[in-house]
Amino acid sequence: MTILQSHKHLVIAALMIASVILAILYRVYVSAEPKETVPTYSIDRFIAADTCGGCHSAIFAQWERSTHHLSHTDTVYLGVSDFLREGLKDPDEIEEAEACVKCHTPVGVITGYPTKSSDDRSKIPELARMGIQCDYCHCATEAHKMYNNGLIIQPGHGEEDPGVKRGPFKDSESDYHETAYSAFHTNAEICGTCHNVKHVVFATDLETTYTEWKNGPYYSDDPKRRVTCQGCHMVQRPGVPATGSTQRPLNPGQAVDDGPQREHIFTHYFVGANAYLPKLNGDAEKSQMAISRLENAATLGITQQAHRKLIIEVKNTGAGHYLPTGMTEMRQMWLEILVTDKKGKTIFASGVRDENQYLPADTILFNTVFGDGKGNPVENIAKAREILKDKRVPPGQSLFETVELPPGKLNGATVKATLFYRSASQKMLDKATGKGTHPLPIIKMAEAQARL
Ligand code: HEC
Ligand code: HEC
Ligand code: HEC
Ligand code: HEC
Ligand code: HEC
Repeated sequence: MTILQSHKHLVIAALMIASVILAILYRVYVSAEPKETVPTYSIDRFIAADTCGGCHSAIFAQWERSTHHLSHTDTVYLGVSDFLREGLKDPDEIEEAEACVKCHTPVGVITGYPTKSSDDRSKIPELARMGIQCDYCHCATEAHKMYNNGLIIQPGHGEEDPGVKRGPFKDSESDYHETAYSAFHTNAEICGTCHNVKHVVFATDLETTYTEWKNGPYYSDDPKRRVTCQGCHMVQRPGVPATGSTQRPLNPGQAVDDGPQREHIFTHYFVGANAYLPKLNGDAEKSQMAISRLENAATLGITQQAHRKLIIEVKNTGAGHYLPTGMTEMRQMWLEILVTDKKGKTIFASGVRDENQYLPADTILFNTVFGDGKGNPVENIAKAREILKDKRVPPGQSLFETVELPPGKLNGATVKATLFYRSASQKMLDKATGKGTHPLPIIKMAEAQARL
């Protein structure tokens, strides 16, 4: 009995060791990307953003309010990052959940701390907490891959010896730092290397903003006809949404206080579609800038194809990439459709929110859904082995939704279609923060009406 049992243990132990070895071999073999060695710089080679702001005060003031500055302290990011890491056991899934810092705290990662998302945040140096900062972007020289932050950098040696700051000018001079023209900074690749996110083990495409742009009408081999990310996002300023469907006027001014007059200064607000985070931080103007970006991104059309058949057209007129883009498993863009008869009685409704601002399950949503590899949807991107749904509107193109109306008198009825956007599902946020504590702004992007 005891001999048999100990044998059993031996056999089990041997099997376990074998399977561990196999698992390691398998992981080495299928691993989506070869393990990179991140060059480690000393943190005092970097210069704090406020030092740059001493001369570049206007640019600093814009960047300070950007999500690039907040990328490490963003409460939504920190919450999601902790949530994803919780309860994971699969080493591949853990590896993904630990990889967030590479883009969200890049100066920390390349200077040695943090190396993973679960590292003690209180030990992260002040400089690294400044998120995606001036010195990091302006010492970049190229990208060695177009996903998961492949930036190659050449930092200076701190405030005493700041090194070369690269940018769009061919003739700029500063007594403080060296300057150099950098074609890299004038192109989409400096953005795209972070704005394409892949699962680090499964290689599932989690965010594809750069690829969506590259394959769309705003990219051209001819640099004069190309509208880069900067061409929209670094032209926007209060009152100038600068989307694909609006003017994108130059922004004359100075790059430094008392500097030469320039025909265009690229703004550093980096406005996207996020009206919620700035609102949370008390920055109403920034929130409004995201709203005006969304209000100039799409149009709607309604056609009655047959007596009871409506076609709703959703056209992406303003975004340089898919609409929506980025973390589209979290973002919500949806159609609300209301058909009312002559007397004002509702005969058809879709996508109408309830009193909690929750959407019905059959709402027409433009989003992405990831799966576990067996066809089951997953909320945690660390588990994303496949894409189950990707319904979004490509740049310059339309999607058409068919609506079948129920029996009843239709003559003289009114159809109203509205396209709405919010940064996340209210239900999901309520689960995380408590019901009613964080109402998400809902933005009306476009609307259309027709009479039947
Ligand atoms: C996410 C990367 C990124 C960050 C962070 C960033 N910049 Fe820039 N900056 C750029 C790019 C890209 C351009 C040029 C855009 C182009 O030519 O298309 C630019 C342009 C500039 C210019 C030239 C003048 C102009 O605006 O056109 C200066 C000066 C500058 N940045 C300073 C700063 C300072 C100071 C900070 C921090 C307060 C900062 N940048 C943060 C990417 C960045
Ligand atoms: C390759 C770079 C990269 C990596 C790695 C990365 N992100 Fe991001 N993240 C981005 C970019 C780019 C955005 C902006 C897109 C958007 O807002 O939709 C973003 C936005 C977000 C947001 C939205 C913030 C808000 O306030 O709405 C959250 C949350 C987030 N990331 C969480 C994570 C987590 C958690 C991880 C690790 C599992 C991670 N990210 C890894 C690049 C990255
Ligand atoms: C003592 C003042 C001063 C400080 C501090 C300073 N700069 Fe500058 N910077 C200048 C001046 C002056 C120019 C030239 C402006 C022009 O030509 O229009 C300049 C130009 C630039 C350019 C444009 C380079 C080009 O060729 O396109 C960039 C990018 C830049 N600075 C980034 C930074 C960053 C990042 C920091 C912080 C690490 C910083 N600067 C700190 C004075 C300063
Ligand atoms: C080092 C990686 C990195 C680089 C380089 C980078 N981004 Fe980002 N970007 C991010 C991350 C991460 C976020 C999300 C931060 C957050 O909300 O937590 C973001 C957010 C944004 C947003 C705001 C989204 C919103 O809704 O508020 C815009 C717009 C944006 N980036 C544009 C650009 C442009 C344009 C460039 C190139 C000039 C660029 N980014 C370069 C990582 C990067
Ligand atoms: C033709 C103008 C245009 C160009 C070019 C463009 N964008 Fe956008 N971008 C928009 C508009 C409009 C929105 C708001 C609607 C949306 O979310 O798609 C937006 C939104 C975003 C967001 C916010 C997503 C979120 O969830 O909050 C990010 C990030 C972003 N863009 C990054 C980029 C990057 C990176 C590039 C270049 C590869 C780029 N954009 C090129 C117009 C543009």
